[in-house]
Amino acid sequence: MNSINPTTTPAWGRLQDLAKEYKNLQISSLFEERERFERYSIQLDDILVDYSKNRVNDAILKALCDLARETELHIAIEDMFKGEAINQTEGRAVLHTALRNKSDHTVTVDGKNVIEDVNRVLGQMKTFADKIQNGEWLGFTGKPIKSLVNIGIGGSDLGPVMVTEALKPYKHPEIECYFVSNVDGTHIAETLKKVDPETTLFFIASKTFTTQETMTNAHTARDWFLEHAHQDTDVAKHFVALSTNAKAVGEFGIDTANMFEFWDWVGGRYSLWSAIGLPIACTIGFDNFDQLLKGAHAMDNHFRHSQFNRNIPVLLALIGLWNTNFLGASSEAILPYDQYMHRFAAYFQQGNMESNGKYVSRSGEKVNYTTGPIIWGEPGTNGQHAFYQLIHQGTHLIPCDFIAPAISHNPIGDHHTKLLSNFFAQTEALMKGKSLDEVKTEMKAAGMSDEQIEKIAPHRVFEGNRPTNSILVKEITPYTLGSLIAMYEHKIFVQGVIWDIFSFDQWGVELGKVLAKGILPELHGPEEITKHDGSTNGLINAYKKMR
Ligand code: F6P
Repeated sequence: MNSINPTTTPAWGRLQDLAKEYKNLQISSLFEERERFERYSIQLDDILVDYSKNRVNDAILKALCDLARETELHIAIEDMFKGEAINQTEGRAVLHTALRNKSDHTVTVDGKNVIEDVNRVLGQMKTFADKIQNGEWLGFTGKPIKSLVNIGIGGSDLGPVMVTEALKPYKHPEIECYFVSNVDGTHIAETLKKVDPETTLFFIASKTFTTQETMTNAHTARDWFLEHAHQDTDVAKHFVALSTNAKAVGEFGIDTANMFEFWDWVGGRYSLWSAIGLPIACTIGFDNFDQLLKGAHAMDNHFRHSQFNRNIPVLLALIGLWNTNFLGASSEAILPYDQYMHRFAAYFQQGNMESNGKYVSRSGEKVNYTTGPIIWGEPGTNGQHAFYQLIHQGTHLIPCDFIAPAISHNPIGDHHTKLLSNFFAQTEALMKGKSLDEVKTEMKAAGMSDEQIEKIAPHRVFEGNRPTNSILVKEITPYTLGSLIAMYEHKIFVQGVIWDIFSFDQWGVELGKVLAKGILPELHGPEEITKHDGSTNGLINAYKKMR
């Protein structure tokens, strides 16, 4: 992958001109073209992506696709799929696509076919998940497992949490899955209150097996378990490890026969497809986990082989980039109209912000343009009664992705039609807005006085013209969810390539970790701390007095 500053490409200059030329482009006026919806939406299997409600026209989209070509996106895509070491700061390939590769039999890293390893571990995961689901894996008193507790953080937590929540309708009725991530003792304490040591299985999920939070929680869980167990060897029936670090797993005391391996070419925030997905497979069954992989693979194929102007992740990435770099947006909201998907935005907060929250280009220079946006969101309709006010009438431009299933897993009364009426109404409202004239006419019809109208009317005006994507899914199934996740993963990848940053490292999380290690021993003794800045010293010393 070459380092190309996107602002030096001819396409970037053209996009700047287009941003000036179409400064006042109104999304609603673009629908004078009757075919716009058909031309600006793409269906892949059971997912319809409508990007027509954006401030883009054919000239802008063409220039954006040119930008992708001029920054050599096509080369980067092939490099990733083929296992080139595109994570150059860590010298690693980036092959989450190989974890769900259902068609190629060979993807080589350092002369080794990784697909063989992937299939071997998938086989091991299937055998284990089947035993859990069938009640054949027994705890130290001979009872089947009823509670799964995943101990992990970041990518070793968020993916399995998000997916087990999103696919709750597929869960085994007698198996509950819990997640402990925070080093705050409350998290593990409250979880342990809910589970029985005789029927609980712990997954210690950590790529590195050194992460402070995870190892602290893992030791607490093991101590708790051993208080109840008959003998130390009972640990083997209740603890498994999901990791790349066999040595550290052994040192912790987990038999490496109970270790599910993955590899350094799997990024933490892209790891739910690997052994990190074992709690998912144990909760919803391996066949459903396999469907998740298949759905992702379908999106991988679409992404790898489609023309940029008909390529869902590429178009979402390019439109996002247009909003960020040419229209000045600094955040993006992900708004699933599906309660089960309540952790989806949080999942992609890590996925996107840890990947593209970088200000140094691939050639080591400070970039002179904006990179990754702030990602946030909550399920609709809750968000409507909380923060949508700012999206509709605030001073920030906040592009939103609205996601909804056509079929609900809980078709009770008219709940789903009401939910979907909101889903459709919001993007329409954000686009159309409401003019002063419309507001005044409405208020007059409601019998309000001229004086009241004059005073209140400006507050009821909506400028509109706020960009949205609508992603309508037939039903949230393991397959469609897999496709949706892969779609966002590739969107992040495309943006990282064009922004000329390395999306697969995360050096930015290191400094805080290192400083915390230094501060930890200072918190133990009574002595006054003086070696930091005034604020940090003051806070530490105040803490010591408060204890
Ligand atoms: O601190 C950030 C991070 O390294 C993430 O990238 C990762 O997902 C998380 O910590 C957990 O890391 P591990 O799986 O090695 O415990």
